[in-house]
Amino acid sequence: MSDSDSNTVDVKRRRMLVATTSVVGLAGTAAFAAPLLISWMPSARAKAAGAPVEVNISKIEPGQLVRVIWRGKPVWLINRSEQMMKDLPSLDSRLADPASDVETQQPAYAKNASRSRKPEISVLVGICTHLGCSPTYRPEVAPADLGADWKGGFYCPCHGSRFDLAGRVFKNVPAPTNLVVPPHFYKSDELILIGEDGGAV
Ligand code: FES
Repeated sequence: MSDSDSNTVDVKRRRMLVATTSVVGLAGTAAFAAPLLISWMPSARAKAAGAPVEVNISKIEPGQLVRVIWRGKPVWLINRSEQMMKDLPSLDSRLADPASDVETQQPAYAKNASRSRKPEISVLVGICTHLGCSPTYRPEVAPADLGADWKGGFYCPCHGSRFDLAGRVFKNVPAPTNLVVPPHFYKSDELILIGEDGGAV
């Protein structure tokens, strides 16, 4: 074999070695990457925990509260009666943020007098903005323990915070802000989806 023949063989062998190493390298990467990809994919349970919740509101009676769980939190849907709606503006002077000026507490489409998209239906995260207890629904008017001027709302048993039927916090209670209105939108007159806002801002 001449010198030039042996050089040619050497070059061919080196190319083959490089090619073989690359294939092994790729296979090694793929084998190593597969478990990582699997562990990055959210489990079905995690997906369900963050998924929006659909609720049919057609059977909620005036004055009734329905409770669902969204992202592990209680969410209340209240069908406010006509009288409850009439009473809301009369409370403004006793509230800490009657016009919902604290932007973090509701989407822009709920910054209105009823804090809702459909005036009679209130949608609220049922967690007190003081230290996270779940307030009690107190729809009755003037009960003995809440006073003659109570028009219905929510009372937090932990430290006494009070909220009206739009989740607006009263003055001089421990809770600093209104209850949170979660993102939501109406898929139809009867179906509401909690957890998505349907592209609204
Ligand atoms: S947690 Fe509700 S008043 Fe303190």
